[in-house]
Amino acid sequence: MTGVYSRDDWQKHYEEDDLRWDLGETAPPFVRWWAGWSGGAGRAVVPGCGQGHEVIFLAARGWEVTAVDFAPGAIQRLSARLKAEGREARLLNQDFFTLDASHDAFYDLLLEQTFFCAIHPGQRPRYVDTARRILKPGGRIVGLFYETGEAGGPPFDTRRADILEHFSGCFNVQVLEKTPHSAERRRGKEWFAVLEKSEIPSSVGGGDTGRPVVPW
Ligand SMILES: C[S@@+](CC[C@H](N)C(=O)[O-])C[C@H]1O[C@@H](n2cnc3c(N)ncnc32)[C@H](O)[C@@H]1O
Repeated sequence: MTGVYSRDDWQKHYEEDDLRWDLGETAPPFVRWWAGWSGGAGRAVVPGCGQGHEVIFLAARGWEVTAVDFAPGAIQRLSARLKAEGREARLLNQDFFTLDASHDAFYDLLLEQTFFCAIHPGQRPRYVDTARRILKPGGRIVGLFYETGEAGGPPFDTRRADILEHFSGCFNVQVLEKTPHSAERRRGKEWFAVLEKSEIPSSVGGGDTGRPVVPW
């Protein structure tokens, strides 16, 4: 697949301290969502976790978190931050799409934050299949999906129609709304979604676009 941003491409960002996507905090819409959350904690997975603000946030709220990122620099940074904050999480330095069968039906929650837009659109069906595989029945994706309005990427533009195209066949769309609570630089550009794994087998589509990097 052409136009895929490789592991080495991502790793270079960590080596050069160029984390232009990093908000420096847990994304505000998640903070608001959890303020109203009445369910308990469980097992969560955060794919493409980066420095892991959301990993630490969930760990601090009692979740058993697995954080996955194939760039070693991301895992090193998150490891140091967890240590500094006295929190624990399982850190996996590997490709999210190659999680083995021990992860199957293991998670209650997949937290999506600028990972879906980081992968090439042609990989979106793999995202959906992996999410379905590793979530428990009734498990949920709680996520922010980034509508850049720009061609190319990463970040790759994610419109409402893209989310519905990929998820509505195999997830119940419980919430899908433009959040008014985004960090300033993403205001008006983020879809907040709660997607519950349905019993229907996956049926997913695909997409394609070019490579140039656009501002986060
Ligand atoms: C845009 S960054 C987002 C990081 C973090 N979620 C945040 O919002 O700060 C995307 C991250 O996904 C990771 N990534 C991209 N493709 C991946 C894959 N197939 N498996 C695991 N990690 C991946 C990159 O290394 C990078 O750290």
